[in-house]
Amino acid sequence: MKTNNITIILAPLQGFTDVTFRNTWARHFFGIDEAIAPFISTMGQQRLKPTRLKDVAPEDNQQLLVIPQILGNVSTDFIFLAQRLYEMGHKRINWNLGCPHSKIANKHRGSGLLPYPEKINELLGQIIPNISASLSVKIRLGRRAKDEIYPLLTMFDRHSLEEIILHPRTGIQMYQGTSDHDAFEKAIQSSCHTFTYNGDIIDLPSFKRVRDRFPSISRFMIGRGILSNPFLAEDIKETPKNSTPRINRLKGFHDELFGEYEKIFSGPAHLTSRMKGFWNHLGPSFHESRKPLKEILKSTSLPAYTDRVEAFFDQNLEFLPTP
Ligand SMILES: Cc1cc2nc3c(=O)[nH]c(=O)nc-3n(C[C@H](O)[C@H](O)[C@H](O)COP(=O)(O)O)c2cc1C
Repeated sequence: MKTNNITIILAPLQGFTDVTFRNTWARHFFGIDEAIAPFISTMGQQRLKPTRLKDVAPEDNQQLLVIPQILGNVSTDFIFLAQRLYEMGHKRINWNLGCPHSKIANKHRGSGLLPYPEKINELLGQIIPNISASLSVKIRLGRRAKDEIYPLLTMFDRHSLEEIILHPRTGIQMYQGTSDHDAFEKAIQSSCHTFTYNGDIIDLPSFKRVRDRFPSISRFMIGRGILSNPFLAEDIKETPKNSTPRINRLKGFHDELFGEYEKIFSGPAHLTSRMKGFWNHLGPSFHESRKPLKEILKSTSLPAYTDRVEAFFDQNLEFLPTP
């Protein structure tokens, strides 16, 4: 499998792939070329506080090229935020048109805008000429039905977009079922734009299936697959072997991530809950990890958490994903 001409993009995962994760990941692993940051919501000019832009501050994002993502449906607010990001140094912006959560979608944001191609058309017509950065969109097949994508693609053809990142599920599907490869194929055949594939690349075989099915695609976005196997991008890229045992590299990564979050989060509950989020993805990748993982997820104090993590690594469980 030739992989020297592919680009791997870290998916935005709110609550996971923030600047701390991105930098720490990049100090321990290889193979990701760029990252889209978790979304920043638009809001009126007066309400845009500098803390909301901290995650994408260029000075803190030296390890991985980061592309900010905007969630919103008001053109003036979008333009204001995009221009602020451009002034900070961001030449590329992504528009979130895929968020499936009903709280957001019911307000016609994220995937909630997909049933309204004319509204998106109007917004793009106002936004693109008035921002200095190039714009890409991250979409699903539709909000409720997979064929909502066709009028969207016809409409996107009228606009100058950097690319379309397509996660081939509907919004209401959330993460159920599988990514629909047939629908992805039909979509790329029905559009003049460049596409990035996103969805369910969790190991080498699932990557290979997508790669073989879509030879014209060279850009692949991976989210949960990196959380469950942080080596996945370097395995895909077949980067030169690092001789340190993988379990030691994972422990080093965990400890540094924990240390970095310890500096940021004020209370132990916040810190352990953030780390447990990662364990939910990483833990099941170890052979026979059910019991020790359950112990980590049950811990309610910092000493209990750190003791149980030490115990987990001491057991030298086999890390299942193989290169
Ligand atoms: C916890 C979580 C948070 C997410 N946050 C965002 C987000 O901020 N912006 C976005 O466009 N997509 C978000 N997504 C969707 C992912 O970027 C991605 O499209 C989805 O997980 C499918 O890719 P995967 O199968 O490689 O994980 C999120 C998904 C999850 C599970």
